Amino acid sequence: MVELTLPKNSKVTQGKVWPRHKGAKREREFRIYRWNPDDGKNPRVDIYYVDLDESGPMLLDALIWIKSYIDPTLTFRRSCREGVCGSCAMNIDGVNTLACTRTMDEVKSEAVRIYPLPHMPVVKDLIPDLTNFYAQYASIEPWLKTKTPVPQKEWKQSHQDREKLDGLYECILCACCSTSCPSYWWNSDRYLGPAALLQAQRWIVDSRDEGTGERLDNLEDPFRLYRCHTIMNCTKACPKGLNPAKAIAEIKKKMVERQV
Ligand code: SF4
Ligand code: SF4
Ligand code: FES
Repeated sequence: MVELTLPKNSKVTQGKVWPRHKGAKREREFRIYRWNPDDGKNPRVDIYYVDLDESGPMLLDALIWIKSYIDPTLTFRRSCREGVCGSCAMNIDGVNTLACTRTMDEVKSEAVRIYPLPHMPVVKDLIPDLTNFYAQYASIEPWLKTKTPVPQKEWKQSHQDREKLDGLYECILCACCSTSCPSYWWNSDRYLGPAALLQAQRWIVDSRDEGTGERLDNLEDPFRLYRCHTIMNCTKACPKGLNPAKAIAEIKKKMVERQV
């Protein structure tokens, strides 16, 4: 029989309310998803109070403050703290975004709710398992493919051709777009998703690349590319202001052009 409710062990329960910081005058409530694969318990939402006079202004600052002063077991990824590495992507107040580039003031609801990126297996707390996401990225072969002999000095590119990479090369593979895409939620085993497809387009339009035909062959599949139904959630979600939906449309256009 089809199970229409969540399995018992995946129901999110009410968690612990952590003690307030002594002497705090200005506080903000944080409700944070917690799950530990080792304790056999259900996921829960813990409540923390961040001392706004002690923490920096960004949401990642608040998480680091909680980890440093309240609960060292809180687990999340981060590295660059400036929107470059993509590792601090999470769902904040219902939106997939980077914790390091969003300020606490941007969250309008009273309590800040933080969950891992949606529809991904969770490794622990706010850390999603990106194994499949990276395998899909690898499958688009993200490197320059050439057939002509290697030039003595460098592969040259005109300024105009270089500009064609704008809006593509800036992708930091944070996965905010793919994990906000309904088609990806339901078919992530076969649909590549907006991040990998935007990266595919980055190599397809590179004037130095000589593997366009095989790149398109690799995507010519009812699932890998054509599961995109132009819902546009991806473009709305991208914290770098990129437009994966447009990149996907460009690939589809290329597919048509090579048929005629
Ligand atoms: S435009 Fe395509 S990739 Fe983007 S959210 Fe919609 S279905 Fe997903
Ligand atoms: S397109 Fe934007 S949202 Fe998607 S992985 Fe790249 S940077 Fe992240
Ligand atoms: S920590 Fe690198 S993007 Fe946020």
